[in-house]
Amino acid sequence: MNIPYFRYDFLYKEFKTDIDEALRNVLDKGAFILQQELRDFEKAIADFTGAKHVIGVGNGTDSLILMMKACGIQPGDEVIMPSHTFIATATAAGWLGAIPVLIDCRDDHLMDVSKIEAAITSKTKVIMPTQLNGRTCEMDKLQEIADKHGLIILEDAAQALGSKYLGRCAGTWGKAGSISLYPAKVLGCFGDGGMVLTDDDKIAHDIFCMRDHGRDPKTNRVCMWGINTRLDNLQAAVLLAKFKHYRKTMQRRREIAQRYCERLSKIPEIILPPAPNDADTRHCDVYQNFEIEVGERDDLRNYLQANGIGTLIQWGGRAVHQITELKDSMRFDVSNLQRTELLFKRCLMLPLNMSVSDDEVDYICEKIEAFYK
Ligand SMILES: Cc1ncc(COP(=O)(O)O)c(C=O)c1O
Repeated sequence: MNIPYFRYDFLYKEFKTDIDEALRNVLDKGAFILQQELRDFEKAIADFTGAKHVIGVGNGTDSLILMMKACGIQPGDEVIMPSHTFIATATAAGWLGAIPVLIDCRDDHLMDVSKIEAAITSKTKVIMPTQLNGRTCEMDKLQEIADKHGLIILEDAAQALGSKYLGRCAGTWGKAGSISLYPAKVLGCFGDGGMVLTDDDKIAHDIFCMRDHGRDPKTNRVCMWGINTRLDNLQAAVLLAKFKHYRKTMQRRREIAQRYCERLSKIPEIILPPAPNDADTRHCDVYQNFEIEVGERDDLRNYLQANGIGTLIQWGGRAVHQITELKDSMRFDVSNLQRTELLFKRCLMLPLNMSVSDDEVDYICEKIEAFYK
């Protein structure tokens, strides 16, 4: 078998008829920028997540930057975030002159909420959890800490559309949340895309303006400095067509994760992510990624590769604090990041996406079993 880590060509094949129709409709109308499909998509996501406002933007990094900007983050402000996240989370702070303060992760690979208070200083303004791998942090505990210290929560929910904690969607817990629509995401478009979710009218208004050259959508008059980071209407049409199937998509990803967990839990050398049927029912995960930990990571990876199975190490193998080129612009203490240090010696992601069949999951598990025998 040949199972690449991801099949980008499958994204079109999966819903070809729906997508062809959606694209043709937009092209026939010549409706490219800030048109009906974008408004319909924003409304569909608002209904689905329970967010009052959804603002489609050019990518998930711009959505992070804009929500920080709309919350008034200034140079020198500190933003607490996990080190196990994409560089874009830290970029959002760094781009505004703020300082990413990096903390450790837990065994489920998400930010260790119990480490937040020790990182708070008089300069701290924001706590920014990453809802990693399609799983949502312990947001009730995080909220308590934020309230106690008067801090804003902004969520990097790039990987977690539809993931829930205590029945509430990722991206709707904080003052605002950011989601990426990059092609490989659980809901991905055919290029770059992102969105901000918020219940706050002022933040929403400012982001609606900032994404479109600072123009107020109601008056079309420039009322603040802005940039151009609108979600394309063609992308919105693709997203709407795919979103019709989203509940099935989430369900299928959970099935694949369950299949991996059942089979691989018999191998003691492997540390698995929490399974969909895990005893901790506060979480409902959408499995953007299936990230395992293994001591012999590189050997296993090579063995799987030799057997036609592609795997990936998240962020090119470096947590944010390990990006030495940027270390002077961030604050962290490696001795407090020991779980993350260990994780990056052992983490490996197995193929989990809509193109992966049950037979392929079984084959991957068979090969992993053979490796450990
Ligand atoms: C955790 C996280 N944050 C931010 C981003 C940035 O999103 P984008 O690639 O759409 O800019 C990504 C996507 O790759 C991500 O996984």
